[in-house]
Amino acid sequence: MLNVDLIEKMRNIVGKENLSISSCELYCYSSDASQIRGVPEVVIKPLSTAQVSEIIKIAYAHNISVTARGAGTGLSGGCVPLEGGIVLDMSAMNRIVEMDFDNLQVVVEPGIVQEKLNKALEPYGFFFPPDPGSSAMCTLGGLIANNGSGMRSVKYGTTRSYVLGLEVVMADGKIVRTGSKTMKSVAGYSLTDLMVGSEGTLGIITQAIIKVRAIPKDRSVIFASFDNPELAGKAVVKVLASGIVPSACEILDSNIIRAINTYDPKIGLPLAGAILLFEVDGSEAEVKEGVNLIVKTCEGLASGIRTASDKKERDEIWAARRLAGAAISRLDPMRTRVYVGEDVGVPIKEIPKMLCKVDEISEEFNLPIMTYGHIGDGNLHTGMCIDMLSDEDWIKLNAAADRIHRTAIAMGGTTTAEHGVGSARSEYMRLELGNALDIMIAIKKALDPKGILNPGKMGV
Ligand code: LAC
Ligand code: ZN
Repeated sequence: MLNVDLIEKMRNIVGKENLSISSCELYCYSSDASQIRGVPEVVIKPLSTAQVSEIIKIAYAHNISVTARGAGTGLSGGCVPLEGGIVLDMSAMNRIVEMDFDNLQVVVEPGIVQEKLNKALEPYGFFFPPDPGSSAMCTLGGLIANNGSGMRSVKYGTTRSYVLGLEVVMADGKIVRTGSKTMKSVAGYSLTDLMVGSEGTLGIITQAIIKVRAIPKDRSVIFASFDNPELAGKAVVKVLASGIVPSACEILDSNIIRAINTYDPKIGLPLAGAILLFEVDGSEAEVKEGVNLIVKTCEGLASGIRTASDKKERDEIWAARRLAGAAISRLDPMRTRVYVGEDVGVPIKEIPKMLCKVDEISEEFNLPIMTYGHIGDGNLHTGMCIDMLSDEDWIKLNAAADRIHRTAIAMGGTTTAEHGVGSARSEYMRLELGNALDIMIAIKKALDPKGILNPGKMGV
């Protein structure tokens, strides 16, 4: 149990300005961007790996739970301290420790914000590809802990593809280094891969070796309108099956189009049953070829198609896409977006069927569903809004989300393609993972025998 003496001990480790027990501050750390809540007993902002280790040693000795947090942009309650205890706010450990471009990598601390890292890399001609909707705020530590991805994973893969090695503080305070600076290594189990996506349940990430890529010379966006989402889904399957690798492939359904136009009328997206946004990057010749192939492949399915190669227009289109999550609530001021059932992923072939199923679920539960997301990965964000004071709405919402989850699993898909399990989806892990969940539970027990790291998450 936390007591005054322990608080004092921890205050001495990090300095009084980096520890807070003020109820105001604790409240600010009691949620992420979902509706899941849990108030910590103390918030600590460590400045070094050694400090993290010292704090965790105290937590381990006294059975105090520890939940690490980046920017709190998560959508699954992943950084919410369900059992109180300590929240470790990692945002002050935000340095780029090393820029090692000869080795195509950088070494970073977990608190660095995605967009800030990319701004720092840009003058050298490099970038870190994973690009979630929250890239202006989210931290690398959060991205690694959740294996986040976003718009570019259809070509560049998820955060996992970029993590060569990690420094991790384990549940007993031991500092461990996984991986290495080499591009390949098969020495032992891939502990780096185990830590990526473990959502703070196995260790606290304090440093990461991150691969970077050269910024492509050219890019172009294709804007294709469809009469309905199913046709858009069919176009996605056709494009990907033909071997074209777009650098982004996003869907916006008619509700999202209306929401974005309501949020910012200047954007003026064309009203259609659905829009696909493809981006192609590479050399000028590669982009030209990719654009031609996508336009040709969409013919017969799309009702309209145009290309935006001008940077300003491209930036505006992506800015509009990034607004999707926030814009949804604008459609009806009496309703609030609740993030549940919003991150399913299905195999590529099932995309058109899943889009139809979402429409059916929306009708069955009489609940508008606004669908957008990284359709090239089969990843759909199904946005639902309710009157937060209506019990009936909550029941409908949870029932619709449950159906969406089960439908995705039945198609061989997943309940979460990028937002994470957290506590939002932990109840589905047995259904989704089968007896693989027992292996996960065994790993959790082996690495965190006292269960102090982010308890109540991931079904472990
Ligand atoms: C997005 C977030 C919600 O894609 O994942 O905008
Ligand atoms: Zn997303």
